[in-house]
Amino acid sequence: MTSSPPGAFTRDIPFSDADFRAIAQLAQQRFGLSLAESKKPLVYSRLSRRLKSRQVGSFTDYLTLLERSEEEAERLELISALTTNVTSFFREKHHFDTLTQRLAEGLAERASSGQRVRIWSAGCSSGQEPYSIAMTVLEAVPEAARKDLRILATDIDPKIVHKARDGVYSAEDVAGIPAPMRGKWTKATDASGKTYRVTQALKDLITFNELNLMVEWPFRGPFDAIFCRNVAIYFDQETQRRLWQRFSAMLNPDGLLFIGHSERVTGQALKTLTGFGITSYRKARTNVPPALQ
Ligand SMILES: C[S@@+](CC[C@H](N)C(=O)[O-])C[C@H]1O[C@@H](n2cnc3c(N)ncnc32)[C@H](O)[C@@H]1O
Repeated sequence: MTSSPPGAFTRDIPFSDADFRAIAQLAQQRFGLSLAESKKPLVYSRLSRRLKSRQVGSFTDYLTLLERSEEEAERLELISALTTNVTSFFREKHHFDTLTQRLAEGLAERASSGQRVRIWSAGCSSGQEPYSIAMTVLEAVPEAARKDLRILATDIDPKIVHKARDGVYSAEDVAGIPAPMRGKWTKATDASGKTYRVTQALKDLITFNELNLMVEWPFRGPFDAIFCRNVAIYFDQETQRRLWQRFSAMLNPDGLLFIGHSERVTGQALKTLTGFGITSYRKARTNVPPALQ
């Protein structure tokens, strides 16, 4: 543990090591989050705001409150407080270049001929990731909305899913969209040009839903591509290994998995997923180990 010297930060609500461990255990069990001891000051600073807003005087009382069945909204506030929603349009652009290439190599043709194509943005935050996917898809398959091509976008945090569904972003946010696409797929909400709304054509391709990746998923896929980037980084190693395995099982043969720049697929999933490029993986076509294909 990196223990802070006494008085390194002041706490107006007592926060013992036992309180921290209890919060960390709850976060691990419910959301798969792994909170290192070094996160203690951050956890305090974020959660003490929740205690104040709920007028709860101690972390013990807050933990008791979180156990109540009617406190689902507070449990979701907890995960909002413990994770970050940082995201951007076309983040790690090479993943979108790979998707463009895959579309050109047959996926677009499959969609155009009416076959089922599915893409999942798992941990979509405020929507920049699925909208970037939708722009990439519509550049390759302009008629996608009339075909059986759909994007599923999910996140555990209901507030962020609401924002994603809304699709309104600041001028700074949309500056990350390559210029020709920006004019085509976003429109200023008023004459000030301070905020932009993504077009209905993008929204028509995407279904937004709340989903905790730790629970059973209410769909069977299969998907042709899964983006789960900068999400598993919060999970412990065992939870990550299980997640990669579950994603692999959800992918079509030749399906793609894109993960965050500091993440790596580990464990059993490597029997079916082959790495290529930066943080991109492809599902094997058969059960034959990738090395023998
Ligand atoms: C840093 S953002 C990543 C957004 C986007 N994928 C990207 O790379 O730009 C991480 C997101 O993961 C979500 N998240 C964290 N734990 C989750 C869980 N157990 N199930 C689903 N989403 C989760 C958070 O709510 C947050 O929106």
